[in-house]
Amino acid sequence: ATRPLIAPSILAADFARLGEEVDAIVQAGADWIHLDVMDGHFVPNISFGPQIVKALRPRTKLPFDVHLMIEPADPYLEAFAKAGADHILIHIEARPHAHRSLQQIRALGAKPGIVLCPATPPEAISEIMDMVDVILVMTVNPGFGGQKFLASQLPKISRLRDMITKSGRDIRLAVDGGIDPATAPQAIAAGADVLIAGSAIYAQPDYKAAIEALRPTG
Ligand code: DX5
Ligand code: ZN
Repeated sequence: ATRPLIAPSILAADFARLGEEVDAIVQAGADWIHLDVMDGHFVPNISFGPQIVKALRPRTKLPFDVHLMIEPADPYLEAFAKAGADHILIHIEARPHAHRSLQQIRALGAKPGIVLCPATPPEAISEIMDMVDVILVMTVNPGFGGQKFLASQLPKISRLRDMITKSGRDIRLAVDGGIDPATAPQAIAAGADVLIAGSAIYAQPDYKAAIEALRPTG
């Protein structure tokens, strides 16, 4: 298995010092920067939009992994691509047409990703596997940081890992929600190769130690 990537979510950062908070996780050894975009409609919370992505872009060359929890997403894909998103992830549950949205993301020069909520079965994305570079399994219901990891999602991660292997394509399998030093090994054992973590990193005093604590030992 490849070494899992760590993608800190800035949702748990100090929003009054966002630029410095990005610098700090870059210094601490982050692989990707995860940016959670929420619209108060698809999810019951509002975070930030493309202006924040653009403002943070000069801070690092690390990939910006932009998780869109917005519905519809299509009217905003270009703005996020122009703002510097490297990966643009949409939810399979967000209307109206995931296939078209993924095509559009690719055409904009970004890497398309698809996200599955806890209630969604892996087969929901079987017809669009060939269009994505990232699959993200939510291990909490989207909308908030600091929620409890749903172990019920582990079999789904394994199923998706099998589907990726069968596809023969180079697709990253990410997990998001409640990832900490106790749950990270479970997600990795199930087949995840990207760990997204908000509070397990930003709520800790030492970001570097917090990132290292998520990586497999030995
Ligand atoms: C939740 C977001 C997550 C969130 C994770 O809707 O997609 O990225 O920031 O936060 P933690 O790691 O605290 O569960
Ligand atoms: Zn997220």
